[in-house]
Amino acid sequence: MIINFAHRGSLTEAPENSLPAIKKAIEHGAKAIELDVQLSKDNHLVVIHDHHFKRFNPSINGLVRDYTLAEIKNIDIGSSFSKEFEGTSLTTLEEVLEICPEDTLLNIEIKNIPVIYEGIEEILVNCLRDHNRFQNIIISSFDHHALQKVQALEPSLKLGLLIYYRMVNPWEYAKNCGLNLTSVHPLQTWTDQQFIEEFHNLGLKVYPFTVNEEKRYKELIDLGVDGVFSNTPSIFTP
Ligand code: G3P
Ligand code: CA
Repeated sequence: MIINFAHRGSLTEAPENSLPAIKKAIEHGAKAIELDVQLSKDNHLVVIHDHHFKRFNPSINGLVRDYTLAEIKNIDIGSSFSKEFEGTSLTTLEEVLEICPEDTLLNIEIKNIPVIYEGIEEILVNCLRDHNRFQNIIISSFDHHALQKVQALEPSLKLGLLIYYRMVNPWEYAKNCGLNLTSVHPLQTWTDQQFIEEFHNLGLKVYPFTVNEEKRYKELIDLGVDGVFSNTPSIFTP
């Protein structure tokens, strides 16, 4: 079964990673949604991609972890997107879990590089436990140590190995790194047939990111990927 992920919600229609973007993806009937989490100063899981707020407002200095949730909630992330979304604020993972249907697969990416969020894995696992939400979740990260910690805390959670660089034989690394993986999430540009076959031989799904062009999407499907992360509604809408 092909599973395509709405990348950061439906980011062409609402500010990325915001509740409106997540809602748009749900309205499209997306089977799966991807988002990024980081920690506020007071240890709340904030859904945001960058480690800073510059793309929303260049005058806001410092990093996500320098601000409390209350301060972060006061930041307008909508105006830089469009007038319609003026006043939109960042969301917490808890707020997403409250509105996201349980049969929607949620890929939660722990953003741990280059900023290290001490304890984010435990806070995330506890949040999912509090919401009784270990099913239909994939935890992914470029920081594979973070995945190790998640695995130790809650072995039932599915893990997705994010790979950005063109590694030599990454399937050998995946096999021997001690992670009980479900999927691999490579950069789409260098995802080729051998890559897909080697990971399928390990029993892992292959979900490349970020595939926005229909032509490239069809090529990857023909090569055998199990789905993609995409910004394009026509790709992530079933
Ligand atoms: O999870 C796939 C993709 O989101 C990883 O890259 O930079 O968009 O978080 P990035
Ligand atoms: Ca991401």
